[in-house]
Formats: sequence, structure tokens, C-alpha cells
Amino acid sequence: MNTTTRTDAKAGTLADRFEATFGAAPHGVWAAPGRVNLIGEHTDYNEGFVLPFAIDKRARTAVRLRSDSLRNTTVRLLSTVGNQGVIEADAAALVPGAVKGWAKYPLGVVWALQHHGLEIPGFDLLLDSNVPLGAGLSSSHAIECAVITALNELTGSGLSPEEMVRVTQHAENAFVGAPTGIMDQSAALRGSSGHAVFLDCRDQAVELVPFDAQKAGLVLQVIDTKVSHSHADGGYASRRTSCELGAGLLGVKALRDVTVTDLKDARGLLDPITFRRVRHIITENDRVLQTVDTLRNLGPAHIGNLLDASHASMRDDFEISCPELDLAVDTARNHGAIGARMTGGGFGGSAIALTPVAHMQQVRDAVIRAFAEAGFTAPDIFTVTPAAGAERIR
Ligand code: GLA
Repeated sequence: MNTTTRTDAKAGTLADRFEATFGAAPHGVWAAPGRVNLIGEHTDYNEGFVLPFAIDKRARTAVRLRSDSLRNTTVRLLSTVGNQGVIEADAAALVPGAVKGWAKYPLGVVWALQHHGLEIPGFDLLLDSNVPLGAGLSSSHAIECAVITALNELTGSGLSPEEMVRVTQHAENAFVGAPTGIMDQSAALRGSSGHAVFLDCRDQAVELVPFDAQKAGLVLQVIDTKVSHSHADGGYASRRTSCELGAGLLGVKALRDVTVTDLKDARGLLDPITFRRVRHIITENDRVLQTVDTLRNLGPAHIGNLLDASHASMRDDFEISCPELDLAVDTARNHGAIGARMTGGGFGGSAIALTPVAHMQQVRDAVIRAFAEAGFTAPDIFTVTPAAGAERIR
């Protein structure tokens, strides 16, 4: 997390809107980004490696703690997205699973902070976000990380980024009901402009790896397939269960402890489906390490094959792709991208394509055409760059 206050043109507008809504200026405005995962999918809850980066699309939140009484635990929430109006809740009476809509993210953070032993007074909050919703770019973690960064500072709780990662994971797992790992919030809290976050999910050690696509004459295109997904649904959880089963049968704490060389022996110990799930995790961990090495020694122009291999593994072994993602990846690859893969939890969401600037338009046109021909909803295609993690912006 960065502690400096950077200029963000939208912070002032949000503060003004906050004051017009709640009748007093906010105590500050905080922001946290969405993420793209360059490589390392479903490896986080297997205590493995991931390589996401924070993107230049973010949630912003203006917050004011209640000043009337510490015992007044009323929370008032308003979002600029949609027209739901102000939502009121009692911070002292939150029930996991009971809150619907976007409010479950800020309230989940409040609930998880309380479980962490912290006293959270009532507050007013105005949220704004340009992270596309349901696109697999972690719009929910962007909200949670902006909120926890604000509350951590305003209440003087002094949580470290690592602790905030665990608290937001608890919010997602126990309050929202999605059995996800720690990748997304780590990228949102610990990301840095121009870098990918190489995270060891066993001990939360982070190394920032320079990822400057532009310098290499490349862009990272995101293809939002518009197929919406939810990790609170069955697919994500069932993959997680298979991985835990595999680790148990192989006698290790987590699949992180199995190497590519061990795979030969693993085949005889696992049923065919579990073996393929396990093989994805083991080979994906290895691809993350190779990608980090390649970025450091050769640069982004040389990671294309690793991205392609990652997609094939998710499509064939982990079986979390879908026709739209496969079409996006294949079409991008056939029209000039040097590598492409689905990103995030799968079953929908976005694909990424690493594309020479000269071929960007061609990839874009080809994907749009291919989707129209297949009768799929038109995708949204845009570029992203590695941006700063959570920070105070006013
Ligand atoms: C989602 C989860 C992450 C991670 C990815 C898959 O984004 O929130 O924890 O498991 O899926 O890599």
C-alpha cells in the first residue's frame, strides 16, 4: 500500500458529491484498483505463486466516521453506480449472507474487521468505480480494498497490508460467501505502477517485477466476454475441493509442495479428473516461475508461449474456460497477439492478449467479428497498464 496522496482528478468531485449527500465533508478519499492476472490461476489457494498486476481502473471511496457518538454504529452507503439510493445498516448487527448487492462488500469488510477484534464506529461512505463489474477484473476486491484502507487509517488500526489481505479474504469467504484466495486483494493493496506483483501465497512474500509492455512495443488488451460469473457459484468451489482432495491423496499440505517431476508418480494415485486438476496447478506454478524469470531476463516479448500454455491447461485440465473465452484467445492469437489466456477465476469474465502495438486494431476487429459470427454478445476490448495499489487520494 502506498501512503502518499497522489493527484486523482475524480477525488474532488467525489468529495463534493459526498458533502451534498451527507451534509458534511468526508474525512478523506481512498482508491484501490482492479487487477489483471498475468499468469498463475487457481494457484493462490494451493499456497502457490501468482503474478497479477493492479490496473489503471479503480474504485474510489469517500468516507466520514460518525462524530455524534462512538456507540452510534449506523453505516450509510451510497454508490454512484446504479440508482439504489442511500443504504442504511447497523455495523453492530451484520449477518453473513444476509446482505445483497454491492453493499455486501463494504459491510463484509466492517464485519471482518470486527472479527479481527477491532471496534468500527458508524460512518458515511460514497463509492464510485470504473472497474467493469462481473468482468473478472476483481471489481469487488477493488471496493473492499478501498474501504479497508480508508477504515484502517481513519480508525488508527495500524493493520499491515498482509493483515488487510487476510481480513478482506475473510470478508469474501465468510460474509460474501465466495471461497476465494488472496491474489486479488494482494494485487489491489500491494500493486505498483509499472510492475507485476510476484506473490508467494504461502507466506505472502512479494517481489515487484517490472512489466513494461509499452517499452517492448506491446499492449495488454483485455477482452471482456460479457459472460458473467460468480465465485459464490459451484464451479470455483468444486475446483478448490478437487485440489484439496488431490493434496490429501498425495500426502502434502498443499499442491504447492508437489513439483512437475512428482507428476509421473501422482498419476497412479489419483482418479483421472483429480489428476488433471492437480496437473494444472503444478504446471501453472512452474509457468509463473518461468514467466518471472523470462520477464527479468528477456522481457515481455518472450512470455507469449507461457500465456498460451496456461490457457490450454485451464481449458483442458482445469476445465474453467468457456466457448467465448476460447474464441477470444484463439482469435487474438491468430491475428497477431504473441500470447493470450483467460484471466481470473474462469467460467466467463475476461481474456488477456499481449499484442504488438502494430496489431492491436487488427486483433480488436477480428475478435469483434468472430463474436458476431458466433452469435455471442459483443465483447468489450480495452488496454490496461500496471498501476498503483490502494492509496489515499485526498
Ligand atoms: C478469483 C479469486 C482468486 C483466484 C482466482 C483464480 O479471482 O478471487 O483468489 O483464486 O480467481 O486464480
